[in-house]
Amino acid sequence: MSDSSRTLDDLRTFLKSSAGVELEQRMKFYDSWAETYEMDHKIMNYRAPHQTVEFLFDNFSGRPEQVQVLDVACGSGLVANMMVELGFKHFVGVDGSQGMLDQAAKTGLYKELKLALLGTEPLPAETGMFDVVMIVGALRDGFVPVSVIRELCLAAKPGGYICMSRNDLKSESGNKYKVSMEKELQLMEEEELWSHVTTKEMDKYMIDMYDNCEDMQNEKYLYGTMYLYRKSLN
Ligand SMILES: C[S@@+](CC[C@H](N)C(=O)[O-])C[C@H]1O[C@@H](n2cnc3c(N)ncnc32)[C@H](O)[C@@H]1O
Repeated sequence: MSDSSRTLDDLRTFLKSSAGVELEQRMKFYDSWAETYEMDHKIMNYRAPHQTVEFLFDNFSGRPEQVQVLDVACGSGLVANMMVELGFKHFVGVDGSQGMLDQAAKTGLYKELKLALLGTEPLPAETGMFDVVMIVGALRDGFVPVSVIRELCLAAKPGGYICMSRNDLKSESGNKYKVSMEKELQLMEEEELWSHVTTKEMDKYMIDMYDNCEDMQNEKYLYGTMYLYRKSLN
């Protein structure tokens, strides 16, 4: 779809076509969405990237210009675009959709972009390489499985940050994912793989595309949660 004048209802219909599909199919869906992804996300008032980047920045110590960032499920590059404004310069991106990676390449911000279907293929990142590992918009059922969170931690340097955000989908599978993710975060802390820095609720993640609200002025929003961890030094 490359129509630039889509409405929220058009987008709801478009998103419904990807509900419940297998991961490979979902990546094809993102391939087909890549060109209008950013424009459409403006329509949906997708606020997760800027809120998550600010959350990192508020709780981070270090010199942004020296930091190596791994942007996991980087999509078209919205996260790196926000981080650049705060002085970050060095990015590697990973995504399962070649179409999205092609868009990310156009930003000129990434020194490397790697294709990988996470959960079925290992995260293509060397152990202990990154000062900051980001993942925004992909920790949910049918996207990046909870098991990948350990790989995010592995990719970070000792003392490096792992910054994640997740939306609170009000569905059975959304709740299941949240419970399973928070259990894993806690378990990794007990295993002393990392320590918890802070968690914050997100103010309006994006318009709830699964709620058929007819009144454009009173769109309901999805909310979300941001998590920051620091990899252990040993
Ligand atoms: C909602 S977009 C978020 C992109 C970007 N982080 C942002 O905030 O704009 C979700 C991205 O996750 C990618 N993705 C979802 N599941 C994936 C998986 N299992 N492996 C790799 N990429 C995945 C999709 O291709 C898509 O680019």
